[in-house]
Amino acid sequence: VVAFFQPKVLQGRKLLITAGPTFEPIDPVRGITNHSSGKMGFAMARAAAEAGAEVTLVAGPVHLPTPRGVRRVNVTTAQQMFDAVLPQAAAHDVFVATAAVADWRPASLSAQKIKKEGDKKATPTFELTENPDILAAVAGLPQPPFCVGFAAESENLLEHARSKLVRKKLPMIVGNLGPATFGKDDNALLVIDAQRHYPLPADGSSADKLTLARQLMADLAQRLSSI
Ligand code: CTP
Ligand code: CA
Repeated sequence: VVAFFQPKVLQGRKLLITAGPTFEPIDPVRGITNHSSGKMGFAMARAAAEAGAEVTLVAGPVHLPTPRGVRRVNVTTAQQMFDAVLPQAAAHDVFVATAAVADWRPASLSAQKIKKEGDKKATPTFELTENPDILAAVAGLPQPPFCVGFAAESENLLEHARSKLVRKKLPMIVGNLGPATFGKDDNALLVIDAQRHYPLPADGSSADKLTLARQLMADLAQRLSSI
């Protein structure tokens, strides 16, 4: 009912969104992941669909319902997320990277469960290798979509987020401070572009993630109409 009255500010736009954590297997029964809830990405997908956009959501392992009207692709690892995103990224108008992609994965995957009473009976150590940076790869395409990054930082939010904006060549990045807000329904965001930065909600308070996502979609629609 609410969605019916929302202005369709993203009608005709195609949005690609990543959400959730990734899971990097060590052996058949265990792996490396993180506490990303996926809530912000799923709220972004819902808000974009409500605003009339055609939405593809590439989701890591989270048990959240798919928002109405959204095309969902489930993945597990960072490499799978990369492989799902890259071939279709240029066909979209906007790429929103909310996923907490694991920065590293085990350098080798054991086909069998690693046993405590193994050959060496020693505590195992794991070599890691770096995962591809999905957002940097999309932003580096010859004709990139409008790329929106997310940066969760524990301190110096503005400096860290702005350096990611520059390093990954993004027109816009959305920052938030944690870990107090991670996994919570409410959040306070900082929108950063090349020229300026401002809080969402605008008064510097906090709001639930769907409210924030709707505000971000209105912001995004304005940016798209002025390029
Ligand atoms: N990102 C991505 N692929 C990766 C790592 C990050 O697409 N392999 C995206 C995230 O979805 C997010 C943005 O890049 O939109 C910033 O992620 P973040 O983890 O904050 O940045 P990193 O460059 O990985 O830096 P660090 O973790 O060291 O802070
Ligand atoms: Ca990272």
